[in-house]
Amino acid sequence: MTVPTDPNCFLKALDGQVALIVGATSGIGRAVVDAFLRCGAHVVAFGRSEEKLRELVASSQSFARALATYAGDATDHHDLDRAATLAVDRFGKLDTLVCTVGAFDYYRTILDYDTETLSSAFEELFRINVLSYILAVRASLPYLLRQPSSIVLTLSTASFYPEGGGVLYGASKFATRGLVTHLAYELAPRVRVNGVAPGGTIGTNLRGLASLREQDKRVDDATGDRAQRIQRSVPLQVAATPDDHTAAFVYLASHRLSRVVTGTIINSDGGRGVAGTVRVAHLVEEIS
Ligand SMILES: NC(=O)c1ccc[n+]([C@@H]2O[C@H](COP(=O)([O-])OP(=O)(O)OC[C@H]3O[C@@H](n4cnc5c(N)ncnc54)[C@H](OP(=O)(O)O)[C@@H]3O)[C@@H](O)[C@H]2O)c1
Repeated sequence: MTVPTDPNCFLKALDGQVALIVGATSGIGRAVVDAFLRCGAHVVAFGRSEEKLRELVASSQSFARALATYAGDATDHHDLDRAATLAVDRFGKLDTLVCTVGAFDYYRTILDYDTETLSSAFEELFRINVLSYILAVRASLPYLLRQPSSIVLTLSTASFYPEGGGVLYGASKFATRGLVTHLAYELAPRVRVNGVAPGGTIGTNLRGLASLREQDKRVDDATGDRAQRIQRSVPLQVAATPDDHTAAFVYLASHRLSRVVTGTIINSDGGRGVAGTVRVAHLVEEIS
């Protein structure tokens, strides 16, 4: 049985807010753009593909006046500075930032790397998964600090447990979890900072690293029967889609719904945490 997320229950939750969404052209980020527009936000969608941004605009015609796009590289602070400025120029302010950029390491253990590929993979993965978030926050802060504001970062079950990825992906996602805590502390009381930690999610475009020649390899294609594996690995026995996570982003971004919430992470992961740190697939098989 699938229970669809009802975006209408959050209608108007983001009325009057202006959001920069970095990593907006596919997967979870794309679903967040749609949800934010439906919930009343004005959105600057940041992506690296002009073609995908044009498709986004074409499929969001009913929100044309609430949507602007910026094509750039999320690891380049100049691009992020210009995107933050675009939000203010176009919509008058910037009070919400969402970071959803990401790349994957295909579960590589430390022994799967030689020392040279370990360094280049580390640099590329941490630039995408960690530095892009830090740069987006820094670029947005001059505007976020002008009024009560909100930042939502995209973490992962790999921010908590070793099975969500390999050693580099896991370390990068632990780092973004650290960012939530540090930034929530440093930026209070003006800016709330929270995270959403999705579990395995199907129907996204998550891909590997160019330094490992895996930039065109999609996680969904590459790991066969992924939906079934995800279902077997979590107590709720569900494989999430991007839409399953959007309500968590809306809630944490909304000044109206979560004005007293900061430094929090919503684990949107089928209950992975209640099964402890051993391989839950085995536990679920035993009890079912
Ligand atoms: N999929 C999962 O199972 C899962 C589980 C837990 C957490 N997450 C996390 O969720 C977030 C979103 O992932 P997703 O699964 O939705 O994958 P996705 O569809 O690939 O989304 C990631 C987005 O990041 C963009 N991006 C990557 N590098 C960029 C750069 N340098 N500059 C600008 N944009 C860049 C991609 O652009 P393009 O469209 O041009 O490729 C894409 O739109 C990531 O942080 C991921 O780690 C995913």
